[in-house]
Amino acid sequence: MSFKEIPAESLQENPFHLIGKEWMLVTAEKEGKLSTMTASWGGLGVMWNKNSAFIALRPQRYTKEFVDASSHLSLSFLDETHRKDLAYCGRVSGRDEDKISHCGFTVAHEGETPYFEEARLVLICKKRFAQPYKADSFIDPEIMECYEKKDYHTLYILEIEKVLIKEK
Ligand SMILES: Cc1cc2nc3c(=O)[nH]c(=O)nc-3n(C[C@H](O)[C@H](O)[C@H](O)COP(=O)(O)O)c2cc1C
Repeated sequence: MSFKEIPAESLQENPFHLIGKEWMLVTAEKEGKLSTMTASWGGLGVMWNKNSAFIALRPQRYTKEFVDASSHLSLSFLDETHRKDLAYCGRVSGRDEDKISHCGFTVAHEGETPYFEEARLVLICKKRFAQPYKADSFIDPEIMECYEKKDYHTLYILEIEKVLIKEK
């Protein structure tokens, strides 16, 4: 299976469904080792003149160590047949199990950036911004319900360098 690159502006996706319902795998590499995790909070848009993706990672995620160590990461979107794998990658930590082997994912690289051949859509992203949320910035007090453990996410703003679509 191969992928073709398309302009980000040609992407025909509903971001609410794509990220919020289909979920994505955030994948990064550090010293030749990969980490991946499921994420469903984030967005797609424009920031500082670049087509951008937004993700938010809690401090305890093993994958965050890889994201922080790397200039690039990928966001992989898999179809419904991989729902169990996505749920597993969102439940188990790579600190405890080899999630990629467990799921039987095939690792590919675009340049130095790892992604999965099982994806139907891949965003190759360059990190541009990272900042942990601060409680005193939350205007809506309801947000605090997400942070009983005060484990505030770090927001990452990523430039989408390439959009890769699986060729049928
Ligand atoms: C549907 C779903 C969505 C998730 N979204 C996020 C997210 O946006 N940010 C985050 O930090 N964790 C999110 N998680 C939790 C991580 O995927 C989970 O803690 C995972 O085990 C972390 O793996 P790691 O420790 O190997 O990085 C989500 C989990 C699921 C099941």
